Amino acid sequence: MSVHSEIEEKGKAALNQILEASSLEQLDGFRVSVLGKKGALSEALKQLGQVPAEERPKLGALANEWKTRIESAIESKKADLESQKIEADLKKTRIDVTLPARRVHLGALHPITKTIRKISETLGRIGFDVTTGPEVETDFMNFEAVNIPKDHPARDMQDTFFLGPGVVLRSQTSPVQMRTMREEKWPVRILCPGAVYRCDSDATHSPMFHQIEGLWVDKKVSMADLKGVLDFFAKETFGSQVKIRLRPSYFPFVEPGAEVDVSCAICAGRNPHCQVCKGTGWLEILGAGMVHPRLFELAGYSPNEVGGFAFGMGVERIAMLLHDIPDLRLMFQGDERFLKQF
Ligand code: PHE
Repeated sequence: MSVHSEIEEKGKAALNQILEASSLEQLDGFRVSVLGKKGALSEALKQLGQVPAEERPKLGALANEWKTRIESAIESKKADLESQKIEADLKKTRIDVTLPARRVHLGALHPITKTIRKISETLGRIGFDVTTGPEVETDFMNFEAVNIPKDHPARDMQDTFFLGPGVVLRSQTSPVQMRTMREEKWPVRILCPGAVYRCDSDATHSPMFHQIEGLWVDKKVSMADLKGVLDFFAKETFGSQVKIRLRPSYFPFVEPGAEVDVSCAICAGRNPHCQVCKGTGWLEILGAGMVHPRLFELAGYSPNEVGGFAFGMGVERIAMLLHDIPDLRLMFQGDERFLKQF
């Protein structure tokens, strides 16, 4: 048989075999036996040496043509066999549509987020705008710019995380007030909610917690305005029956300064065994005061022109009072049984 007809014969035979292949393994076997190094086509080509030189290119081209044809036949057969296999697998597996579906867990807002939103909404109604600032702060902004110089004892009130020379995780949101005053002209009426950090951890302290601070600066802002705003805030938050009281206190950035209590919404002071107010009738909710003139100077405002008040509260504390949460740590454990309740 001539080399030419041998190539033709072997090619045709291979095509037939491929068409009849019944499994992917068999198909692969054919591929090796025809196209492999020792396969039929290669064997036929080995005889090229015996044919006259001028016929060789033609035969080479013929062999290549068959090679391509066989390869594409293998490809399409392979695709056929694969889809047959998928069909067969699908027939074997059935979906039981009567099985109850897995429960989809709906997310909900965290009590801290809800509390921040509630406070922002309440004070937003009397003109406070929400402003935020960086959690990584300079020592200067966190302390010095709010009147707590390097050796000031008030630094001990806030056990601070230092990230590097002159850089801290902010221990309060007060620097946001200073940033705002340095960037904007008065009047200023802002709320600064956000995470703050202190080296402290137990049932009532967490190394990361949230504060909201308020600042109102304008021509004639008095202590009476502060009381009015806080009274409005307390009644909107804890109920119209609550009262507030201011106790003199010290914060470096205000003068005078006060701690603010709200009357116990649970017992109104009538139950000496009240779990919430411990029988005192009052709950401390925030710190406040009239902005220290030094801050106005550092902000570039003239202390003779403006007055202002500031207040700051712990968001977790408010959320715990609102929802009767016994342990601060519950807020940060991510336990769905706890979070689901809000
Ligand atoms: N930033 C103060 C603190 O963390 C809270 C505060 C703000 C007190 C404004 C008074 C006025 O202690």
